[in-house]
Amino acid sequence: MKIALVFFSPTGSTALVAEHIRDYLLDCRAVPTLIDITPMAYRGESLDMAPYDALILGVPVHSWRAPRVVRNWISGLCGDGKPCSTFFTYGGFQIHPAHHSTRTLLENAGFRLVSSAEFPASHTFNLGGWKAMENRPDESDFAVAKEYAEKTSCRFSGEDRNLPGPFEPTTHTEAFLDEIEMFRFRILSSLPARKAKSCSLCGICQEICPTGAFDAQRGAASADMCIACLGCLLRCPEQAITIPDLSESFAFKLKAEGMTIDQMQTKESRIYF
Ligand SMILES: Cc1cc2nc3c(=O)[nH]c(=O)nc-3n(C[C@H](O)[C@H](O)[C@H](O)COP(=O)(O)O)c2cc1C
Repeated sequence: MKIALVFFSPTGSTALVAEHIRDYLLDCRAVPTLIDITPMAYRGESLDMAPYDALILGVPVHSWRAPRVVRNWISGLCGDGKPCSTFFTYGGFQIHPAHHSTRTLLENAGFRLVSSAEFPASHTFNLGGWKAMENRPDESDFAVAKEYAEKTSCRFSGEDRNLPGPFEPTTHTEAFLDEIEMFRFRILSSLPARKAKSCSLCGICQEICPTGAFDAQRGAASADMCIACLGCLLRCPEQAITIPDLSESFAFKLKAEGMTIDQMQTKESRIYF
């Protein structure tokens, strides 16, 4: 069973979970190929599914859905009736619309979804002062990743012919989710930009930007293209790129979701199977 194990991961958490899943799939005698579509160049051409029997797609939840650039990438795929599965990392807030929306996109591209999973992970905005799901994923999450890999490989091979049960219901339309996507600009009052004078112009920020938004010379991101993934901020070797302090917005966000930090910490990884 040859599996294309594709992931998008600007700040590394989804990559970490994908690597664990790859190892667990190898234990199940599957043959996974890890494919990182974070760099823009790797999303230029659509993935040819001909060499693979199945697809696993792992992405971070960005504003309740898969990131926009991944949604666009999915629409270019040709599933040809092959089985697929999704997994998401998320920072402790809303997640369930992502399962629905990504499933629809994959089914429209000709895949058959056989399972899905979600894994709490340090929220990207912790880089700006939030304290959501720090130190996740941890061993408890990797144990769920193991079970997910084992059960999903049985579904892929046809040994288990069941389909996933229903996801948590959602009434959100794609138009509403588009509005939610714009909301991050109210939380991040300005996009990542170079503030420090100590910049050697190494160009890593521009090189690794998954959307081609960051201009190293200007030290700024294009508002139209930036998805606020904060990969540039994390990867800058001189910590020259910053965002405004977000600590106050964390309390606001918790209140808006009607959740305390302790309630958030009780969230566990989950398989939809
Ligand atoms: C722009 C943006 C929007 C996000 N939206 C959500 C969200 O709606 N719900 C949530 O729980 N986490 C959200 N997160 C947090 C990420 O899903 C989480 O930190 C993820 O593990 C990051 O994955 P990565 O390290 O692979 O990039 C968001 C992060 C970013 C950058």
